Amino acid sequence: MELIKVRDYNEMSQKAAEILIGKVKGSEKINFGLATGGTPKGLYEKMIEDHQKNGISYKNVTTFNLDEYAGLSEEDPNSYHYYMNESLFKHIDILKSNTHLPKGISEHLEKECSEYDKMIAENGGIDLQVLGIGQNGHIGFNEPGTSFKSNTHVVKLAESTREANARYFDTIDDVPTHAITMGIASIMKSKEILLLVSGEAKQEAMGKLMHGEVTEEFPASILQKHPRVTIIADQKALSRVLITP
Ligand code: GLP
Repeated sequence: MELIKVRDYNEMSQKAAEILIGKVKGSEKINFGLATGGTPKGLYEKMIEDHQKNGISYKNVTTFNLDEYAGLSEEDPNSYHYYMNESLFKHIDILKSNTHLPKGISEHLEKECSEYDKMIAENGGIDLQVLGIGQNGHIGFNEPGTSFKSNTHVVKLAESTREANARYFDTIDDVPTHAITMGIASIMKSKEILLLVSGEAKQEAMGKLMHGEVTEEFPASILQKHPRVTIIADQKALSRVLITP
């Protein structure tokens, strides 16, 4: 794993944007895996700024998001569909038909899951997967205990994850109990992974990621086994890592 140390959230977002924009410019066609949450917001803002200033086109880009809450419609302001449209897609010239997220509402959620993996494979797989990390080491919504062999699946969210994400909802009771997420095996199939980590709340997770054992109890630890992972982490996230060799 390559570690890029940056000062703060802004610098993390800037570096990440440079990497993604470089790939868009340098490829005839590229498939990005995208993440939601607070962490990649700055990255998306920088991409929008760049698009408006330099006119880089996203018509050659296809995206697959990691996850979606179960039971929320695409129009629900707390859905990840809504987040992606508002935070990125509607501000750039990406073709709506090239943007994909798991469906949160379906009579056949399990079938949706297997079709999502199939669609990614049929499109040639993910070239670069952007990831954030949960405080308990989750990636996507793969909570501790998830099999490293998992494909896209329906998950029951950990209470700590619901609490961490409650800040976006009116009350914690409104936070869905389940979600659909790309599995660990789906994520590990990406040709390259870019993990963004910022803030004190991620110190412990960062320490375990860099120095901990590879275990399903800490899902992000599997990234130690991927051949091409770049981590961009800021000083606050790294402070504990630096004092614990
Ligand atoms: C959420 C998302 C993850 C995200 C993580 C961290 O639950 N499903 O994809 O990486 O939590 O979120 P944040 O970036 O807001 O800290």
